[in-house]
Amino acid sequence: MRKSIVAGNWKMNGNLAANAELVTGLLSTRSGSDNVDVLVCPPAVYIPQVAALLQDSNISLGAQNASAFEKGAYTGDLSLSMLAEFGVQYVILGHSERRALFGEDDAQVADKFRAVVAAGVTPIVCIGETLQERQAGQTLDVVSRQLRAVLDVADKATLANAVVAYEPVWAIGTGLTATPEQAQEVHQALRALIAEYDAAAALKVRILYGGSVTADSAAQLFGKPDIDGGLVGGASLKAKDFLAICSAA
Ligand code: G3P
Repeated sequence: MRKSIVAGNWKMNGNLAANAELVTGLLSTRSGSDNVDVLVCPPAVYIPQVAALLQDSNISLGAQNASAFEKGAYTGDLSLSMLAEFGVQYVILGHSERRALFGEDDAQVADKFRAVVAAGVTPIVCIGETLQERQAGQTLDVVSRQLRAVLDVADKATLANAVVAYEPVWAIGTGLTATPEQAQEVHQALRALIAEYDAAAALKVRILYGGSVTADSAAQLFGKPDIDGGLVGGASLKAKDFLAICSAA
């Protein structure tokens, strides 16, 4: 049985005061239940502040991106060792916004995946199709291509610890949540693909759904056999909504 996981991707939102209010709200209400791993991913500049607020709590810290390089002439980039110094335990990789807006391709995501795993941090690999690709019947081809790029470089010993997030691009920030059936179909196919590489790991890898997850839609989505939790954007910026989603996992 896989332990559920719910991650809050704050994207480029927040400020010192709002961050403190949000995290305080999460910590004051979150039950001690350990049947779900919960983490928040603030903008990098706020990682030190949020790390201090989360200290000794049952909420983990994640980053929204990381460099594939250890150090050097990579202006604006952040290395895994820098993030790990502040207690970052998870890193979101290949988010569709980074693929679309910053030109990240499958090869770069694979390189980052290797760096994250090598640093002992848990990767959350984002994959997902656009509306055009879904309407053209290319969904499984697209997400399989994206996932294979990572599976081809994954080490069998650490693959089971990886997290995959299926985030249909057409559902991100749109309020158009995928139906539980749509999501389950893709999750099942992704787990079958992982099984081609390592059957045992396929049973352990946690596959999250992301894309307009709300307190209302979470329970039905998370009730599907191959959906192990959620990667939450907008709803993670409100303590009450995010906690309701965590409770549904
Ligand atoms: O990474 C999670 C994000 O892409 C989903 O955003 O606002 O649709 O929950 P949202």
